[in-house]
Amino acid sequence: GLPGRVTIYEVGPRDGLQNESAIVDVAVKAEFIQRLVDAGLTTIETTSFVHPKWVPQLADAAELLERLELPEGVRAPVLVPNERGLDRALAANVREIAIFASATETFAAKNLNSTLDDQFAMFTPTIQRALAEGLTVRGYVSMCYGDPWEGDVPIDQVVKVGARLVELGCHELSLGDTIGVATPGQVTALIAAFDAAGVGVDKLAVHFHDTYGQALANTLTALRAGVTTVDSSAGGLGGCPYAESATGNLATEDLLWQLDGLGIETGVDLEKLVATSVWMAGQLGKPSPSRVVQALAG
Ligand code: HMG
Ligand code: MG
Repeated sequence: GLPGRVTIYEVGPRDGLQNESAIVDVAVKAEFIQRLVDAGLTTIETTSFVHPKWVPQLADAAELLERLELPEGVRAPVLVPNERGLDRALAANVREIAIFASATETFAAKNLNSTLDDQFAMFTPTIQRALAEGLTVRGYVSMCYGDPWEGDVPIDQVVKVGARLVELGCHELSLGDTIGVATPGQVTALIAAFDAAGVGVDKLAVHFHDTYGQALANTLTALRAGVTTVDSSAGGLGGCPYAESATGNLATEDLLWQLDGLGIETGVDLEKLVATSVWMAGQLGKPSPSRVVQALAG
């Protein structure tokens, strides 16, 4: 069966913008987030406290958060890789963070300047201290279904990384298809493998990039397996500057078209969201890659 309600975890301001090389003004970012809230999104990953030289676009994280006026009940997690990032997030009064792990050696090196094992030396004290401060911690696993340098990724390797994040205290695990290569059979198999390792589907979220146009099929497969949290990016913005061939995330509008059609509640207003993505496309000077935005805005 399908769930009656799905939580959309909006990553546009973070995953969407991190890949834009032209720096977007902090006021535009703040308005983007405010408009996403107006459209009914209640979980919005707003920015990253990573090294500003690694992702210059998000160097304004603290200033952005200071500008936001989020209503009660809106969750605003931020990406944090290490204790230095946690210090900055705490100083900005963040209540929720997301740690991001790699399932492969090569991406751990390229994205975190680390190794598959050593990344946990960075995450362990960060998660422990965040939990002690009363924060909520999400865990991402990247390259779950394929890696641009290593090709196939052994499923056991993915599960091992994810299960370790859950053991460390992550309340939720987001399974990243960083380069958008997954197909539905892999999604079914990975969710089953996590279940067999003691990480139930109630702890899982899915995060698909749409490079090969499989994101919606993969999402529906995950929903049928019991997943109720889906990551997506308004307008289909996104990509990872440290992952070759990564394109935008599943567009929130494309996701919403499917969920609305299935009668699944999200609380999000499609018309307002499309208007937001059209406005944002104007700011970025290029059209949204979302099929639904193109269809409805055309
Ligand atoms: P490093 O160079 O190894 O860092 O980078 P370090 O620990 O050796 O420290 C070097 C210097 O950087 C020190 O300063 C630190 O204080 C400073 P110094 O003492 O030399 O003056 N530093 C920092 N400054 C500000 N904020 C920080 C920070 N950390 C250290 N947080 C590091 C290691 C992890 C920091 C770096 O590799 C990094 O920032 N990586 C982030 C890359 C990134 O953001 N990638 C995109 C997000 S992941 C993604 O998109 C995938 C996802 O969407 C899921 C999916 O699709 O699969 C989540
Ligand atoms: Mg991503």
